[in-house]
Amino acid sequence: MGDLEFHLPENLGDHAPKIGLVLGSGLGSFVNTLTDTEQVAYAEIKGLPKSNVEGHAGQLHLGKLGGVEIAIAQGRVHLYEGWTAKETAAMIRLFHQLEIKTVVLTNAAGIVNANFKPGRWMLISDHLNLTRQSPLTGVPAFIDQTEVYSHALREMLKSEAAEMASSNLFEGVYAWVNGPEYETPAEVRMLRGMGADAVGMSTVPEAIQARALGMRVVGLSCLTNYGAGLTGQPLSHEEVVEVGKHAAGELFTLLESAVPAMVEI
Ligand code: HPA
Repeated sequence: MGDLEFHLPENLGDHAPKIGLVLGSGLGSFVNTLTDTEQVAYAEIKGLPKSNVEGHAGQLHLGKLGGVEIAIAQGRVHLYEGWTAKETAAMIRLFHQLEIKTVVLTNAAGIVNANFKPGRWMLISDHLNLTRQSPLTGVPAFIDQTEVYSHALREMLKSEAAEMASSNLFEGVYAWVNGPEYETPAEVRMLRGMGADAVGMSTVPEAIQARALGMRVVGLSCLTNYGAGLTGQPLSHEEVVEVGKHAAGELFTLLESAVPAMVEI
């Protein structure tokens, strides 16, 4: 036990989750789809950073989804709160300690590709790390990043989504920025020029950490708003949260069928 980074309350020892899911802001209610659930506050897990931002619940849920054991992190920490990249990826190391092999990362993101629509979801195909921070600083691990986001799992998610009549899943490149302020119109044009389709303040350090630990990664962005300058309207955090809540239902339906299927691939 002495070498473990995290110390979990003993009663959670009976769970053997196969998949770890991180829920972005506005998506917390997905935990209600779990059965046989136990939960623990991040504050009770020694070694785990806990958010001081209001509305980030900070609970780890262990339970079953479609018969498959899963761990769900409800709430994450960000660089803009003052955490290091390594700290923002702590939950992934905890998932690894639980012997999880597949992680599903969700977030809210702004649209950079004007062909995309708010309220829809984007499967992350690749990322741009524009923060110049890495969770692997000090390790150092020269990991390959040719396929951070599992091609096989993306194909499976796309075919599951195609079977859902209401679903319309985009796919594209997610740019990770420091925040907390949203971008300027000039920055959004720059991001587009660099090849980004969406922009946000999370997920990438978790994806890098997961790959460094040999885990498979899926990333899904809720496209909550057009990036600055694409519509002429100012951005509001309230709108981002509201759109995220409305778009959640569609993702939940997709995750309910696709997540248990991931253990078969
Ligand atoms: N920019 C960065 N992060 C975001 C945005 C945005 O427009 N919307 C939601 N998260």
